[in-house]
Parts: sequence; C-alpha cells; structure tokens
Amino acid sequence: MDIKVAPSILAGDFARMGETVGRLEQNGADYVHCDVMDGNFVPPITFGSQMIGHIRPHTRLPLDCHLMVLHPETHLESFARAGADIVTVHAEECRGRIVQTLNAIKGYGMKAGAVINPDTPVERLFDCAEFADMLLLMSVVPGWGGQKFIPSTLAKLEKLRSFLIRNGRGELDIEVDGGITEENVKDVISAGANVIVAGSAVFRSADMKGTIARLRGV
Ligand code: DX5
Ligand code: ZN
Repeated sequence: MDIKVAPSILAGDFARMGETVGRLEQNGADYVHCDVMDGNFVPPITFGSQMIGHIRPHTRLPLDCHLMVLHPETHLESFARAGADIVTVHAEECRGRIVQTLNAIKGYGMKAGAVINPDTPVERLFDCAEFADMLLLMSVVPGWGGQKFIPSTLAKLEKLRSFLIRNGRGELDIEVDGGITEENVKDVISAGANVIVAGSAVFRSADMKGTIARLRGV
C-alpha cells in the first residue's frame, strides 16, 4: 500500500495558516490533517469549518478533517461547503449513530472515517468498517499535540489490519494519529498503518521535506 503523510496543522502557525498549508504541499505532504476541537469533546478549542474555507484556496491537497467535537453530524454541511475532502468522526461520540454519520458524510461527497481513542477497544470499529473510507486509531489522548506515542496502539493496528484482510477490505486506509516520529514510524507502518499523521515531528523539523519523506518509512 502507498504510505500517505498527513501533517497536522495543530502544530502550525495559526496566524499564517494559508502559507503553512502551501508550505506542506511544497514539501511533499499528501494530506493536510486539520484537528477540529470544540472545547467539549476535548478541552481545547482550535478552529471550525471557517478555517477550512480560508485554507482551501491555498492548497490542492486533500483536507483531512478530524472532528473532535460533540454532535459532529450537525457540522457536516458546513465542512462540505468549506471544501473538506475527508471527515473523521469519533465512535465514542457517535455511538449507535456511527454508520448513519459515516453515510451522511459520504452523502455530502466527502470521504468518511471513524476514529477511536487509545482506550477504546479496536473491535469498536469492526461493525462500521464496511461503511468507512478510512479508519483512524488515536495513538495519543485527543486534544493536544506533542504527546508521547502510546505503544499499545501497535497491537490494535495489527488486529485491525488482519480483521480487514480477513474481511476482504485489506486495502482500506488506516490512519494513525499522535506522537509519531521518524524514530517510531517504521513500527507504525509495519503494524499496518498507511496514513501517518504527524504534527510536532513535521513542524519542529529543520528539514520539513526530508522529515515528510522519512515519515513514509523509506
Ligand atoms: C491530537 C490530534 C493529533 C495531534 C498530532 O488530538 O488529533 O492530530 O495534533 O500531533 P503530534 O504529531 O504532535 O502528536
Ligand atoms: Zn488529529
């Protein structure tokens, strides 16, 4: 599978986000990972669909919007209008409505993803996987960048990838999000991830282009 690198703009300069996403594109990123936080599902507040609309003209890269919000189903239209390409929603928030929410995201012409937190069992994704275009495993507690990678994510990744292979969906994108560095990315990829989110590792690097290339595990 091709490995995609999705730098998280949470680690970027909020005062110059247009330039920031242009820089990510010039340095070889595959997606722009946009961490939307509402101060309720997670304590911090970052930005909403208006930010997505403002950065849209500055990059051709897919905007991968990670909604760490309550009632994500009420925000889908605004993200679609703003130009989001992918929207991922948390199973912990959607609960029994996860399939409807994934289908609603696709109804707006966007790709749909389901996310689980580090302490949520990976089996939580098994029933909705067939309705998703991507599955996201959090490898840190959602809400903040710069945290340490949680090692138990690797076993969850292996379990999820083998479940997908057994069920004829071995090619489905699995995104891992949080604490990924050039040092641990190879383990993350060999455990089954093919979409790599990295904020600090990319924005703290003196060689953004090189770091993005190395995060492909090559
Ligand atoms: C945390 C976000 C992650 C985070 C990744 O809630 O979902 O995307 O920004 O940042 P790093 O790579 O610094 O852990
Ligand atoms: Zn994220």
